[in-house]
Amino acid sequence: MPDDKFEPTIVAFFCNWCTYLAADLAGASRMKYAPNVRVVRLMCSGRVDAQFVLDAFARGADGVLIGGCHPGDCHYQEGNYKTLRRVALLKRLLAQMGIEPERFRLEWISASEADRLKTVVNEMVEQVRALGPLRPKRAQEEVEEAVHT
Ligand code: FES
Repeated sequence: MPDDKFEPTIVAFFCNWCTYLAADLAGASRMKYAPNVRVVRLMCSGRVDAQFVLDAFARGADGVLIGGCHPGDCHYQEGNYKTLRRVALLKRLLAQMGIEPERFRLEWISASEADRLKTVVNEMVEQVRALGPLRPKRAQEEVEEAVHT
């Protein structure tokens, strides 16, 4: 039976120069978007280590969102290309752990794209809400195990 009261927690790793500024702009512009996102500001999306994502899931996140500058716009030249490669590997790992692909997302959102940020956040919250909490014992245990090995 679906839990009507379930509010997903999404951990969002946003790059300081683009997506974080878009979130700031959305706030300053009083755009309404789901309050389920816990933002972690990093200087570049390339700083998002695989361990950060696994830790977020292991500690109770129902979804993880990474936001960075568009390809070619990274302030550290190739940081977001590294993110892209890392995310491809992580997606495969998470799938093997039984974590649905909708729970992990990478988006390029520039500083001026507050509206896009709003859309992405709302969309992801709805998708994860429909999936329900990340409670499958096996997946949770596998994440724990991966974190501690
Ligand atoms: S500085 Fe934004 S993705 Fe690298």
